Amino acid sequence: MIKGGVPLRGEVTISGAKNAVLPIMAATLLTDEPCVIRRVPKLSDVEFMGQILTSLGARVGFDGDRLRVQAKKIQGVGDYDLIRKMRGSICIMGPLLGRLRKATVSLPGGCIIGARPIDLHLKGFEALGAKISIEGGYVHAKARRLAGADLFLGGRAGCTVLGTANVMMAAVLAEGVTIIESAACEPEVVDLANFLNSMGARVQGAGSPTMTITGVKKLHGAEHEVIPDRIEAATYAIAAAATNGEVTLLGARADHLHAVLDKLREAGVKVERNGSALTVRRNGRLKPVDITTLPYAGFPTDVQAQMMVLMALTQGISIITERIFEARFMHVSELARLGADIAIEGPSAIVKGGKPLSGAPVMASDLRASAALVIAGLAAHGTTEVKRVYHLDRGYENIDGKLRQLGARIQRAEES
Ligand code: EPU
Repeated sequence: MIKGGVPLRGEVTISGAKNAVLPIMAATLLTDEPCVIRRVPKLSDVEFMGQILTSLGARVGFDGDRLRVQAKKIQGVGDYDLIRKMRGSICIMGPLLGRLRKATVSLPGGCIIGARPIDLHLKGFEALGAKISIEGGYVHAKARRLAGADLFLGGRAGCTVLGTANVMMAAVLAEGVTIIESAACEPEVVDLANFLNSMGARVQGAGSPTMTITGVKKLHGAEHEVIPDRIEAATYAIAAAATNGEVTLLGARADHLHAVLDKLREAGVKVERNGSALTVRRNGRLKPVDITTLPYAGFPTDVQAQMMVLMALTQGISIITERIFEARFMHVSELARLGADIAIEGPSAIVKGGKPLSGAPVMASDLRASAALVIAGLAAHGTTEVKRVYHLDRGYENIDGKLRQLGARIQRAEES
């Protein structure tokens, strides 16, 4: 329940990145030695990945934002229902294949943001020598021997983040050299590569479209601190601008946020960097900006919904084009309930901004759409009720607590 109209003010600490920690947790399966991961965000997706690792035989212990995993003896068959629930769990496949030379996981279904195939992941595993079959809803990958290969991982929408992570995690224990062309360049892929290298892997070129992985025989335990969540940082930055407030993001990495900060500045938002803190402030009237989502370093699809809210509050017309996930406009019909004027034309949303938003009951559909609805509720007059907030808890640590700390009037309520 959100009572809108209060400008957000103050400081908020950015948590560890969900999309970095999930593959890093999966990577702990590559060694029988203990691994320690720090700055682990308290999220339901992380808890869930912990359950998956446990179901494979690993010992998993959380201690505040520290996580210890030891996968001494593991088995290669993932629990059907556990894995099916969370798309990110597909990234256990690479480590299982790398370490055990076999992996069986349930096929992740489509999801609310569009079809999410894994053909590129499987293409990569096959190039390394795995035989793939699909039976009874499971994908089976098996290899007598994994051998380095040259492979191209580009797809219809560009590169694949988890596909790159998955193939990289299988290749670190393959024989010989693997070259991935059209690799994803996201900071989360770089964070994973850094963790793998600290375990003794030999990964070069992470963060560029060509990655070279020289296989090693064995990996050892390691300790790693996860990068701050650039999507969480962007979400609070947009919330500050949308509510006409001023928020300092502690620990945000400006170097991971170029595209978002560039668009915010183009729209007239003031962003100042002070060491590892970023202060975001609305600077008078905003201007509409056009946005196209692209793989990194382009504008992230995971910030498209939140930016749409800012544009709905900005006088004028902006065009927001989604190039990564074709159906990621579920928030549009919910934003209309608050009075936003947005029309969808193919892959683009045409936002006629500037109409004041007024609170309404709305339904969250996916993680980032939920964040957008919260921002809209914070900026709207009156009360907004966002249902199905469990979507938010998948990817935003303590979002209601952090927003209250910034002055927002937001409370959790049991659904009646
Ligand atoms: N694709 C294929 N074949 C594949 C894999 C992907 O065609 O085998 C297509 C997808 O359908 C999509 C595009 O490639 O059109 C990009 O998908 P990608 O594989 O990069 O997405 P992902 O790795 O499954 C991660 C994040 C998403 C984020 C995307 C894009 C995690 C756990 N998930 O998904 O995060 O939107 O990259 O940046 O890392 C979120 O946090 O809310 C979220 C959805």
